[in-house]
Amino acid sequence: MTKFFPVSQPSIGEKELAYVSDAVKSGWVSSIGRYIELFETMFAKFCGTEYALAVSNGTTGLHLALVSAGISRGDEVIIPDLTFIATANAVTYTGATVVPVDIDANTLCLDMSSVERAITARTRAIIPVHLYGHPAQMDRLMAMAKERGIVILEDAAEAHGAEFKGRRVGSFGDFGIFSFYGNKVITSGEGGMLTTSNRELYLQAKLLRDHAMSAEKRYWHTQVGFNYRITNLQAALAVAQMERIDEFLAKRRQIMDWYRNRLGHLPGLRLNYEEPGTRNVYWMICLEVTGMTETDRAAFMGRLREAGVDTRPYFYPVSDMPMYARAVTPVAHDVSVRGINLPCYTDLSESDVDQICRLTQVALAEMAVV
Ligand SMILES: Cc1ncc(COP(=O)(O)O)c(C=O)c1O
Repeated sequence: MTKFFPVSQPSIGEKELAYVSDAVKSGWVSSIGRYIELFETMFAKFCGTEYALAVSNGTTGLHLALVSAGISRGDEVIIPDLTFIATANAVTYTGATVVPVDIDANTLCLDMSSVERAITARTRAIIPVHLYGHPAQMDRLMAMAKERGIVILEDAAEAHGAEFKGRRVGSFGDFGIFSFYGNKVITSGEGGMLTTSNRELYLQAKLLRDHAMSAEKRYWHTQVGFNYRITNLQAALAVAQMERIDEFLAKRRQIMDWYRNRLGHLPGLRLNYEEPGTRNVYWMICLEVTGMTETDRAAFMGRLREAGVDTRPYFYPVSDMPMYARAVTPVAHDVSVRGINLPCYTDLSESDVDQICRLTQVALAEMAVV
């Protein structure tokens, strides 16, 4: 039987089983328990921030960060047009207007001149997305934000441990937001994290995470909050994953090297970029084929699937979705129909990557694309 390679797969070992089992046995199965605080402490240290606040997932994390920063109806929030829909939807939940702008063709993150052109008197926040593990250009963005009093929320859902000029993502903006969905660098099943070094923002987000219940008077609420809490069971899984995150990150670099050695030199193919001075965590292997149409891509992905290799298409531009306003974003539109994600997960061996690359080359040759 031929081996099947999923795009992504969590690495769950003995440690994960032991910690989750410990949490279950403790009886603290909901959102109180020692693993939650432990997870938050470990994550803040990992990112180099004063605080970290665990939440139910990355989407609720984005919403909580926006609301805590005071974003509401009438405000405009700039986001990259190429991202997972959660970035845009979280803005919409607040009543603010989503302003999608174009991306840089190399990093696939916000294009700074497009951001500058999109700023208006109503721009209250910008959400740089560290897409597929590559950090956005945080120095220019932070300088611009400071000058104009704009809030920066880093969507680092796909970039745990990525670095810009030696500093980890999630530590630049007013908030960083992470996801621990099963396909992420580390997982808690479902889960998310806010990072910040601003005490006021941290306290506001913490309050709103739990229905804004008064610390002094139980069941007394002065704001409309949410239940965006994580459970102790999820946090137990995450703590075990945090203890292995360096191993996961090193393995991802190794896997990227294996792919580069086999596909990197082929004409017409482009793999993940790593801007000098940054550290990409290669959440997904990104393959772009020059001149490929969306129909070609569907056929190519179909051939790979038949051969036992699962793939994903790049995200579609947010501005193409019926609920959002159209935007002129040629780079996002170009790569979106050509880009493909290939398998990347801890348990892949060099011979697995070898096989995936051979099957990729065969599928491309059959289609006479490269
Ligand atoms: C860029 C981006 N933002 C936000 C999210 C939302 O995270 P979650 O799925 O945990 O809600 C995701 C991921 O899944 C994502 O990829």
